[in-house]
Amino acid sequence: MKKLKKLIKKEIERQKETINLIPSENYVSKDILYALGSPLTNKYSEGYPGKRYYPGNKIYDEIEEYVKNLALRAFNLSEREWSVNVQPYSGSPANIAVYLALMKPKEKLLGFSLTSGGHLTHGHYVNYSGKLFKVKQYSVNPKTGLLDYEEIYKLAKKFKPKVIVSGITAYPRIIDFKKFGEIATEVGAFHLADISHIAGLVLAKLHPSPFPYADVVTTTTHKTLRGPRGAIIFMRKELEETINKSVFPGLQGGPHNNVIAAMGIMFEEAMKKNFINYQKQIISNSKKLAEELIKAGFNLWTNGTDNHLMVIDLKPLNLLGKTAEELLEQANILANRNSLPNDQSPFNPSGLRLGTPAVTTRGMKEREMIKIAEFIKRILINRENPFKIKKEVVDFLKNFPLPY
Ligand SMILES: Cc1ncc(COP(=O)(O)O)c(C=O)c1O
Repeated sequence: MKKLKKLIKKEIERQKETINLIPSENYVSKDILYALGSPLTNKYSEGYPGKRYYPGNKIYDEIEEYVKNLALRAFNLSEREWSVNVQPYSGSPANIAVYLALMKPKEKLLGFSLTSGGHLTHGHYVNYSGKLFKVKQYSVNPKTGLLDYEEIYKLAKKFKPKVIVSGITAYPRIIDFKKFGEIATEVGAFHLADISHIAGLVLAKLHPSPFPYADVVTTTTHKTLRGPRGAIIFMRKELEETINKSVFPGLQGGPHNNVIAAMGIMFEEAMKKNFINYQKQIISNSKKLAEELIKAGFNLWTNGTDNHLMVIDLKPLNLLGKTAEELLEQANILANRNSLPNDQSPFNPSGLRLGTPAVTTRGMKEREMIKIAEFIKRILINRENPFKIKKEVVDFLKNFPLPY
């Protein structure tokens, strides 16, 4: 305990003293930490409310029903059309559970390639999604860097997939879920929209919603939604039974009740008015950071951003993503290396992915984005000593406390 207490304290200090630009990370509130650290972690509740495989679950039934109700309300979904499962341990198991509900092994999946901005679970060959199913992947247009819906349609028509996945991990532009829905309908496929990255923006109506055009929507809860590590599956009513069975007993055992309660607090927070302002600020900060980086001389993939993230193309600077990531980390700035569609090798990515959800949670606004772009320029373009800049970074962060 002593050793781990010390390490946890050290980690809190690291979080305090680091500018976190990793777009998939965020800081949760004290209330969410309270639920996560509560004795709810002690209970087994295999099954679903009213149908558990263990006794003693009255309170857990109430918690799970309450959180499911909040989830539907938060995204304005009618209980007549949509159901929700709040038990997935995280985004990857949620996606696999959906695939296994909708497809038999060796059936066809069409997903977004990792190097173009998709996720491993969208059919990458190292992932079970790529091993269990027959996969084709769509990419972005190499010239514009944008999703090319005409190409996706052609690919879908030829391949005839059972499931088409839309959703992004490193794509800085709006996704046209309507087009994905039309393509899926036309070729007779299910449309799974994985909104893990943009769920907060969708909830705040700052990104077009996938719900009218999807059969299933999955999301992690720990990114723009600013909740605990976990995931949720929204599904059309007629798919409820199959998908619920696929989560439990198909893939998982007992749900993590402390996480489910923490998701409830996340939704309560997300339904407050200032959550919309928070999401608006994430986007304003992202646009400002992109604008300042371009002014500083960086090349941005697609020349900017519409959402919470952007990707720098480091090739003109003759820098590898890994080197840039390491240099920034030496100055206590975190942004992660990322493949670009025109990279020679996926093992040496030349992109650097940055996002603004975490710094916005700390209260930063456009003015601070100017400062952050300047730090990045001094390190990656001027090649100033990052260890010297680290002191400035730590001082700068003193005005932006963490929520805990
Ligand atoms: C679009 C998308 N789907 C799924 C996941 C997987 O989530 P997890 O890491 O919680 O398994 C991620 C995580 O980055 C993601 O970006």
